[in-house]
Amino acid sequence: MGTDKVLIAPSILSADFSRLGEEIRSIEKGGADWVHIDVMDGVFVPNITIGPLIVRSVRPVTGLPLDVHLMVDNPAKYIDQFADAGSDLITFHMEACESPENGIKKIKDKGKKAGVSIKPGTDISILDGILGQVDMVLIMTVEPGFGGQSFMEGMLDKVRDIRPRFDGYIQVDGGINRETALKAVDAGVDVLVAGTAVFGQEDYGKAIEELRSGARRP
Ligand code: DX5
Ligand code: ZN
Repeated sequence: MGTDKVLIAPSILSADFSRLGEEIRSIEKGGADWVHIDVMDGVFVPNITIGPLIVRSVRPVTGLPLDVHLMVDNPAKYIDQFADAGSDLITFHMEACESPENGIKKIKDKGKKAGVSIKPGTDISILDGILGQVDMVLIMTVEPGFGGQSFMEGMLDKVRDIRPRFDGYIQVDGGINRETALKAVDAGVDVLVAGTAVFGQEDYGKAIEELRSGARRP
């Protein structure tokens, strides 16, 4: 796990939902590696977005891995539905559940890749004892809930902390653009989630290439 090639995972949170299928085909054509799907329940975060129905709807549209980010309370309750809808990776928040081990087991029992995520205010030490069980760690670089926020560079200390002892994917999400992408990859990040920096641009392929080339490992 982990990867030499920086992976770009555009977040559909910033896509045009009136044309979601076309938008996903466009990022695939533009060279995206994964499709990042931000799920919010209005409880864990002060925003409501989408559920398993959308995952099921977009599954036939693309062959790219569907990277589902659950910003929901009690995520274990929904893992089976998201897995059955066609998710490839399912990531939930450590702050949203009593037993992360239970959530990880549920994801793996469905044959999917398991990820855990922490908010900016959560200490990286909460992941001690979990790193060996997951395929991915998502370090939030904004307060979860909305796209278009500013990158919190201090979160890269969490990436540097786990990099030497975790060989899975390290993903960051929030405020990623050409400048911040380079800093993130230099810190050891494998997967860049970007909403505004891709869907806010005219040419998605150019935007994805700019992120990738801007972040090329030294
Ligand atoms: C926050 C969301 C956003 C989104 C990316 O909860 O998860 O971080 O994916 O938003 P941008 O790339 O626009 O900051
Ligand atoms: Zn996300």
